[in-house]
Amino acid sequence: MDKTITKLINEMTLEEKASLCSGRDYWATKSIDRLGIKSILFSDGTYGLRKPKCDSSVFIGIENVTSTCFPTGSALASSWDSHLLEEIGAALGKECREENIDILLGPIASIKRSPLSGRNFECFSEDPKLSGEMAAAYIKGLQGQGVGACLKHFIADNQMFMRMSKSSELDERTLREIYLANFEIPVKKAQPWAVMCGYNRLNGISCCEHKDVLTNIIRNEWHYEGLILSNWGAVNDRVKALKAGVDLEMPARESIPDNEIVQAVLDGTIQESMLDKTVKNILLTVLKNKSYKEKSYSLDLDKHHQLARKVATECIVLLKNEDNILPLNIHNLNRIAIIGTMAKSPRYQGSGDLYVNPNQLENAYDEIHNLAGNQVVIQYCDGYSSEDNETNLSLMNEAQIIAQNSDVAILFVGLPDTMELAALDRQHMKLPQNHMRLIDHITNVQPNTIVILSNGSPVEMPWKHKVKGIFEGWLTGQAGGGAIADLLFGVANPCAKLPETFPLKLSDNPSYLNFPGYGDTIEYNEGLFVGYRHYDAREMDVLFPFGYGLSYTKFEYMNINVSSNTITDTDILTIKVKIKNTGCYSGKEIVQLYVKDNSFNVQRPLKELKAFDKVELNPNEEEIITMTLDKRAFAYYDIDTKDWIVETGEFEILVGSSSRDIRLKEIVFVHSTSNNKKKFTRHSTIHDIISDPKSKKTIELLIPSFVSPADIEEFRQSGIINKTFQKTIHQTPLCKLIHYFKGYFTEEMLEQLLHVLNK
Ligand code: BGC
Repeated sequence: MDKTITKLINEMTLEEKASLCSGRDYWATKSIDRLGIKSILFSDGTYGLRKPKCDSSVFIGIENVTSTCFPTGSALASSWDSHLLEEIGAALGKECREENIDILLGPIASIKRSPLSGRNFECFSEDPKLSGEMAAAYIKGLQGQGVGACLKHFIADNQMFMRMSKSSELDERTLREIYLANFEIPVKKAQPWAVMCGYNRLNGISCCEHKDVLTNIIRNEWHYEGLILSNWGAVNDRVKALKAGVDLEMPARESIPDNEIVQAVLDGTIQESMLDKTVKNILLTVLKNKSYKEKSYSLDLDKHHQLARKVATECIVLLKNEDNILPLNIHNLNRIAIIGTMAKSPRYQGSGDLYVNPNQLENAYDEIHNLAGNQVVIQYCDGYSSEDNETNLSLMNEAQIIAQNSDVAILFVGLPDTMELAALDRQHMKLPQNHMRLIDHITNVQPNTIVILSNGSPVEMPWKHKVKGIFEGWLTGQAGGGAIADLLFGVANPCAKLPETFPLKLSDNPSYLNFPGYGDTIEYNEGLFVGYRHYDAREMDVLFPFGYGLSYTKFEYMNINVSSNTITDTDILTIKVKIKNTGCYSGKEIVQLYVKDNSFNVQRPLKELKAFDKVELNPNEEEIITMTLDKRAFAYYDIDTKDWIVETGEFEILVGSSSRDIRLKEIVFVHSTSNNKKKFTRHSTIHDIISDPKSKKTIELLIPSFVSPADIEEFRQSGIINKTFQKTIHQTPLCKLIHYFKGYFTEEMLEQLLHVLNK
């Protein structure tokens, strides 16, 4: 392929090269017919295609083509299921093929820093490992069908408010461990065809002009081979962007960027060889696209609908099940009240420009009818108006009457489109007033109330104690209605777990004090302590922890076994755990593995998710699952050496059912192979020395040659070594010891000590 590309580049004029570096219109790149270079067609849609029915020169069509609307990102990540994400990717890929789309603009791997960010419903998680793995699986599935994925929005693009101008200000370690790690996993594991740079600035530099991340990190360090393109309209300076690493500017800006590039080559601002590299990245994508398109595919939209339903059942999280009110037993019920307009007109996807036109749409009301309508009386009432957030007393009273006359009330509430818009951050984490009042009204008369939530990101639940059952129904796509019915009546057993923490209240969230930021910056002051890393470190109560979710069955965790209790950081550690279904229903359990550093000298979160797996078991069945950890699971990013480093010491391997329900633990001692020996100076402290096992040993061996036991006794007698001294000695710089122990510890001795320590 390289030869073909080199030949093509040699045959191109400067103008032709420049022309490839920006779009033809809204959704397509330019072609060069005389050289057989085809154009590429993009389409939006992270959970379904959002392709205008008209041609590619129109941004938003009056109508979009129909497509399967799958659950959105927050829901998908609740499945913690790479296989499912791969299936979704493959299904989307086939639908793209049918519509001649070459690259789909998804997935979004961005970290959920605040529960308020407008695009949260499309993002996966607050955790980089989970976000990264979900994105990687989705990309593999999509690309397996010969359609490119576009991983976005690179990087630290975590809010909508002034997204096009604000600068995300964060330190290098946080950037590496949280906001880059989520992209690093899918880039390395799945090589997306494209990566999209964000609108925002990162530490003052526009993401489209950030050479450090676009060239040094993603290309040189992670060996990314695909296309780097701008978000739509994100380029401010085409020449700077090209020099930083942006291959393609989208969408078209007439001939402006092309002329700028030509001019820059002519006046020497850009060397033609640099432009050739950019063109090569574009041509690689064009040719890859051509060869993939030769692969055959088959499309069955009914199957995609069934897949959407299966996935939705694995995405909906059972948050509360008091008195085992769920699953509902049809035989014990005479009357069911279904309340809430969202039961009949579901909120099942995001709102705004990203609207997917579903090819069919289930609603929970009909699906419950289909399942239980022959055996129980089902009464329905709107309960609130879908037009506004005002309480409608007559609807509420009507709902109260049917709730009172039923054995159970199923309440459909959530965030209406107006309160969760892709283009705007939310202002708070509350449900609309009329939904909250309805919950009060119903629970006053009906103790058996189950709430089904429809929302793309967490809400506060001051009413949690009043209801017996809660399902986090997310935005579960076109088949979410059927999935809810299946879960309510036990046709399916819930297995999803939260991919983000639900705080008790918004102000508990670590980003609260600087979201959405002041002036033109957003200070990521919480650093590494995003999501559960913060709530754990602060020992805070939360509404529902990261990784939490209930099942109708129970799982026992047994027999943790690690391949070795002492390893070096280049070894792969294998962890085996036995999981047994000890309940009465078949079910799936998501097993989570966290790593805790017990002997750190740099600040570290209390524990971090490093592996997970999902296992399906019948009652009484058990299975041993195996997870592996490599160096990165134990490492932190060291900003001095610019490398991932493991500190020699003890680590805990914590295996559990959620981040706050750790069932098994094993200790492993990891020896570091990093050559990150500290350089000790006269200002180093005793603590610096003894915190490194090797230098600790050295100093222990040296001490007797400096001071004798008799000397030490003399210091004690004279009061130099008193209680305070003993407490503070660790913090004392070596040079100060010369003053403390005048005559006993000298400059020469200090020099000798440093010489030995630094050898
Ligand atoms: C959004 C992207 C989207 C692009 C094209 C931008 O405003 O941030 O996610 O892919 O528009 O519609």
